[in-house]
Amino acid sequence: MFPNRILVFTVLALTRHAAAAGVTGAAEGFAKGVTGGGSATAVYPSTNAELVSYLGDSSARVIILTKTFDFTGSEGTVSGTGCAPWGTGSACQTAINQNNWCTNYEASAPSVSVSYDKAGILGITVGSNKSLVGQGSSGVIKGKGLRIINAKNVIIQNVKITNLNPKYVWGGDAITLDNTDLVWIDHVSTSLIGRQHIVLGTSASNRVTISNCDIDGTTSWSPNCDSYHYWNVLFLGSQDLITFKNNYVRHFSGRAPKIGGNTLAHVVNNYFYQTDSSGHAFEIDSGGMVLAEGNVFQNVVNVVTSPVGGQAFTSPDSSSNAACSSYLGRACVVNAFGSSGAFNIKNTGFLTNFSGKNVASASSATDAKNVVNTAGYGKI
Ligand SMILES: *[C@@H]1O[C@H](CO)[C@@H](O)[C@H](O)[C@H]1NC(C)=O
Ligand SMILES: *[C@@H]1O[C@H](CO)[C@@H](O)[C@H](O)[C@H]1NC(C)=O
Repeated sequence: MFPNRILVFTVLALTRHAAAAGVTGAAEGFAKGVTGGGSATAVYPSTNAELVSYLGDSSARVIILTKTFDFTGSEGTVSGTGCAPWGTGSACQTAINQNNWCTNYEASAPSVSVSYDKAGILGITVGSNKSLVGQGSSGVIKGKGLRIINAKNVIIQNVKITNLNPKYVWGGDAITLDNTDLVWIDHVSTSLIGRQHIVLGTSASNRVTISNCDIDGTTSWSPNCDSYHYWNVLFLGSQDLITFKNNYVRHFSGRAPKIGGNTLAHVVNNYFYQTDSSGHAFEIDSGGMVLAEGNVFQNVVNVVTSPVGGQAFTSPDSSSNAACSSYLGRACVVNAFGSSGAFNIKNTGFLTNFSGKNVASASSATDAKNVVNTAGYGKI
C-alpha cells in the first residue's frame, strides 16, 4: 500500500509540473513563429545564479520560474554624486551620473547624493533559443531586468519584473532588446523601474511582438514630481517590426511609447490609461512609423506630443480606414477615446511596409476595454 501511495503522489506532482511547463499560446503579429526554447526539457532554477546561468548559456532552454528571484542587495550598494534636473523635492526623480550623464548633459542641475542598488543597473543576459515562463503568479524577478542582446528566438511569458532603483534615472531597464530577431514578450508586468520599462536599442531588433503586458508607471519618483513615470516604452531600432497588442499602459507621463529609428509599430487593441494632464502617451520621432487601431485612450489628455517627426495612421474613421485594405488585407479599426485628446493623423505612405508580413488581427476598441482584466503576469 504505502509504496503505491508514494508513486501516486509522485505522478501527480510531476503531472502538475509538466502542465505548467512551457509556453501558453503562440505569438501573433510580427514575431509569429517564435519558438524560444522549443521542446527542451524544462528546468526550474532555485537560485539567482542558476537563473542567470540558464538564461545566459548557449543551450536552448525552457526555464520555469516558481518563486521570486530577488537580486536587490546581491551586488551591493553604490553611493555617489548624481544630479536633480527636475528639482530636489521628495517626489522628484533624480539621476545617477551614469556614463557622466549629469556631467555632460545636466551640468546646471543641482548635485545630489545618490545611493542605489548595483544589481539594478545591468540586466541579466538572455541568450538565443530561450523560453522564460512564470508558473501561475509566482514568477517574479526583483531588482534586475533582462537584456536580450545579440540573441534570437526568445519568449518571455508570465513574469513580473519590479523594483529597479525607481528613485533614479539610469537605475535600470526592465527589458532591453538590441540586435535581435523573433522576440515575444507576453503577459509580463513591469513596475517601479528607474529607467525604461521596455527599450529597443538602436541596432536592428527585427521581428518583435509585445502582447498582454501590464506596464505600470505608478511611482513615488518622477521627472514631473507627480507620481507618473516618464520612461516607459522606447523603440529606437534601425530595422524593427513591432506588434504591440493588448497591453495595459498606465499611469505614465511620457514615452508611452516613444518611437523613432526605423521602426514600424503596429499598436493595436491596447488600453492606455493616464489621468495625468501634464504628460503625453505617444512621441513619434523621425523614422517612426505607427499604425494605431482599436486602442482605448482613457483620460489621456495628450495622446501624442508635438511635433510628430515620423509617420502615423491613427485609423480615424471608416472611410479613411479603408486605406489599410490594400496592405493588411482588411480595413483598420477605429480607436476609442474617453476624456482624451485628439489622435488624428492620416499618413498612409508607410502602410506598404505591412505588405507580406505577419500582421496581427484587430478587434474593436470595445473589446480592448477588457485588457485591464487580462494584461500582466498571473493572468494566463
Ligand atoms: C538556436 O537554435 C537554432 C535552431 O535549432 C540553431 O540553428 C541556432 O544555432 C541556435 N542558436 C544558438 C545561439 O544556440
Ligand atoms: C519601410 O519601407 C521603407 C520604404 O520602402 C523602407 O526604406 C524601410 O526600411 C521600411 N521599414 C521597415 C521597418 O520595414
